[in-house]
Amino acid sequence: MGTVESTGQTRLGVLVSGRGSNLQALIDAVADGRLDGRIAVVISNVAGVFALERAERAGIPTAVVDHRGWSSRDDFDRAVVAELQKHRVSLVCLAGFMRRLGKPVLQAFPDAVLNIHPSLLPSFPGLHPQRQALDHGNKLSGVTVHLVTDELDAGPILVQRPVPVLDDDTEDSLAARILAEEHVAYPEAVRMMLTGNWRIDGRRFVRG
Ligand code: GRF
Repeated sequence: MGTVESTGQTRLGVLVSGRGSNLQALIDAVADGRLDGRIAVVISNVAGVFALERAERAGIPTAVVDHRGWSSRDDFDRAVVAELQKHRVSLVCLAGFMRRLGKPVLQAFPDAVLNIHPSLLPSFPGLHPQRQALDHGNKLSGVTVHLVTDELDAGPILVQRPVPVLDDDTEDSLAARILAEEHVAYPEAVRMMLTGNWRIDGRRFVRG
């Protein structure tokens, strides 16, 4: 069984760095009852981003934890954990969060940190996955929602949704096609987590 508390109104913490369209997909899913949880806090490592405005509009508490000025990456991680704990979060969703998180976060939230990545992992981890797919000449790309581990973009996969790569695609047109699927995939993955009816078997996220 998953460790995320699953009895209604699980408190989610969403970490963002920018536009926040995946955050919006989660806000909408909570608002229309597709997700039996609540977003307890939205944390950004960058001030003034549109994601924070989306959260404020939805009445969700926000915090900015600037990644600069800490003497180590772990110190930044610990500040993020403190903010999440302050809001009694039990499931963390990275939604366009552009920093890598390490041990302090993963130890505080074991098997409870999700990430969304715009490629069909394990293809094209890291930066600019849409450009990597185009450069490689892939005919298919898509989105992956996975649990975060200490290996970059490599944890157990909950949901993948494919999209075609078209001959005349640009990085932007492919990114837009993937993004539409991201907005379906992320609420679906969070919903799976919230059932509590899952386990990790090696690399695999197994339901039931
Ligand atoms: C998305 O493509 C997400 O998969 C990636 O960064 C982008 C963030 O977009 N990790 P948004 O901020 O959710 O609109």
